[in-house]
Amino acid sequence: MNILHNISLKEYNTFGINTYAKRFIEINSTEELKQVISSEKDVFILGGGSNMLLTSAIEKLVIHINTKGIIVNDTKKNEVYVTAEAGENWHEFVLWCISQNYGGLENLSLIPGNVGTSPIQNIGAYGVEIKDTFFQLEALEIETGKTKIFTKDECKFGYRNSVFKNELKGKYIITSVTFKLTKNNHNTTISYGAIQQFLESKNKPTIKEISDAVIAIRQSKLPDPKEIGNSGSFFKNPVINSNSFKKLQEKYPEIPHYIVSENEIKVPAGWLIEQCGFKGKRFGNTGVHNKQALVLVNYNNATGQEVYNLAQKIQQTIKTTFNIDLEIEVNII
Ligand code: EPU
Repeated sequence: MNILHNISLKEYNTFGINTYAKRFIEINSTEELKQVISSEKDVFILGGGSNMLLTSAIEKLVIHINTKGIIVNDTKKNEVYVTAEAGENWHEFVLWCISQNYGGLENLSLIPGNVGTSPIQNIGAYGVEIKDTFFQLEALEIETGKTKIFTKDECKFGYRNSVFKNELKGKYIITSVTFKLTKNNHNTTISYGAIQQFLESKNKPTIKEISDAVIAIRQSKLPDPKEIGNSGSFFKNPVINSNSFKKLQEKYPEIPHYIVSENEIKVPAGWLIEQCGFKGKRFGNTGVHNKQALVLVNYNNATGQEVYNLAQKIQQTIKTTFNIDLEIEVNII
């Protein structure tokens, strides 16, 4: 087993934070992974590195999951079960599904990260979440090395949430994910405002057209991690009770919002942050993106701690201005 020492993680996290792993190993098959965890229990799993902020060197053994492969189980009806290995790049996987005319993931185009980490935070965009097409996943229990299948119910998906962020955090390593997709008769979601505007002229857009629209919208708003380090939305959109919302709306009648339930209203964190004057502001090597205030960026050689300090400053300002607690969405390591 080839364990490397003192490896820079700059290329392994989309924030581009230059910290390092004391010990690092790349895994190319589930068999290799089983072998490693038979002797190492205190491990740090690294997939696409797209949802983390590294604030210090990593003492644990860093396992970089690089397993590849896609298996199709065609039922000959309108549905097809597609299983992808955890190390497959998410966006490449989505494009591959579209090239096969398999529908369901098109709204999730261009999300950074890998297939194996996508269920952990139930990735979502433009009216669709992974849970909508998720069928099951396979994972290894670190303690026992045993394989376990998780059904959709067992994953306990919520808004940017799952069992793997809560009671099973750090206990399992996801090795593959199976999606139930459509073959011909696609059940597309184009109700999200920005997509609707983009596809205005199209009566029944194809999944490729929807994917192209999502890619264009994301490129116009979100920074490309290859050009400027970032981790997508840094905070979750807060859900507040309807009384608090009513008070807020009296003061800010234009406040955008989505009704979650009778007593729960979701407010865009990007809007709150913009109101506080942070949008487009730079603080040394870090800052708030100028087109989407929900995204914190690494302009050049920022440390994780600098980004984290800015995040805390934003949280405090939102608390004093709106009395709302902003929850950080990325994992702070
Ligand atoms: N807004 C502002 N200022 C900003 C940003 C947004 O006023 O700087 C307002 C917009 O005008 C709009 C509302 O906030 O009225 C919502 O904005 P947007 O459609 O851009 O979506 P979001 O709620 O800010 C969420 C996801 C994104 C996802 C988009 C599209 C979260 C935490 N973020 O952002 O996910 O792409 O919806 O579905 O739920 C990610 O998780 O990394 C991510 C990018």
